[in-house]
Amino acid sequence: MRRCVALILPLAVLALAGCQDWQSALHPRGPEARHLDDLFWLFTWILTAIWVAVMVAVALAVFSRSRRRTVHPDEPLATNERAERRYTGVVWTLVSATGAVVIGLSILSYASQQRLFGHKGEGVNIRITGHQWWWEIRYEDPRPDRIVTTANEFTVPVGQPITLKLTSDDVIHSFWVPSVMGKQDLIPGRENLITFTVDKPGIYRGQCAEYCGLQHAHMGMLLHVVSREEFDAWQQAQLQDAAAPDTEERRQGQELFQKKPCVMCHQIRGTQAGSRVGPELTHLASRRYLAAGTVPMSRGNLAAWIVDPHGIKPGVNMPLIKLEPDELNAISAYLEGLK
Ligand code: CUA
Repeated sequence: MRRCVALILPLAVLALAGCQDWQSALHPRGPEARHLDDLFWLFTWILTAIWVAVMVAVALAVFSRSRRRTVHPDEPLATNERAERRYTGVVWTLVSATGAVVIGLSILSYASQQRLFGHKGEGVNIRITGHQWWWEIRYEDPRPDRIVTTANEFTVPVGQPITLKLTSDDVIHSFWVPSVMGKQDLIPGRENLITFTVDKPGIYRGQCAEYCGLQHAHMGMLLHVVSREEFDAWQQAQLQDAAAPDTEERRQGQELFQKKPCVMCHQIRGTQAGSRVGPELTHLASRRYLAAGTVPMSRGNLAAWIVDPHGIKPGVNMPLIKLEPDELNAISAYLEGLK
């Protein structure tokens, strides 16, 4: 057992250290996240000080008990009025201090909410719709031909305000990329806003933070934060139609995709596949993960996902489709080419 702990502990520390830049509210990468981090530590230190004070008071009360004497040994009910007045004073002081701390912390918390959820001017506007169990992402633009749609992974420019408009298609979800923002719920029939800025380029992982069914834990997302130029280039690439198949196998894959039930749920712009029930796949292979942050993007995982989605994500809405081995190969090859 001890050996086990000795082995696991350093690994766990390493793993956690590796998490810092990826998904951590304690390593903030933007003003809003930093504000929340400051608030967290302020609460932690104040509450720790109160806890220590209470423990010291309890210890004093317990250990000084033996020294306590009654006022008159013959009259146990007699009271010492001076001592009583002092105790009453102490109790009222502590009650007032408790009230002041609770009210003070509530005001700080409320002020932070005002700051986090206040609108901060024009920036990038993104509409995110929660589904069981993936994220539909749509970059709003007054020009319809400039609207980018994607799923589960999105890119934003560094140092600019990003406004997310959050809603849901089924149950309540919660959007949370801990390194850059606070949580915000996605509620069916409602639109919630959250604005944030990121000041360090990188890739940040987010997670659905409201239990939403069987695969709640597999409802992750990736946020890519890049320079303005890289963002414009990314947006331009995403606006393009899907890459045409460049091999015979991929051409067959495209044909099969459009013949099989795949086409009933997914959109691949530039082809006949135009449904928006499931995630948009036009640039599927430009994402790092499959199935909302569940498995890394690779041809093997694409094939594994298509052949048995319920093996990877039990309960998922993607149906099992009967495919011959060479059909599966062709479709995986085609999807792998959708950069
Ligand atoms: Cu969506 Cu939990």
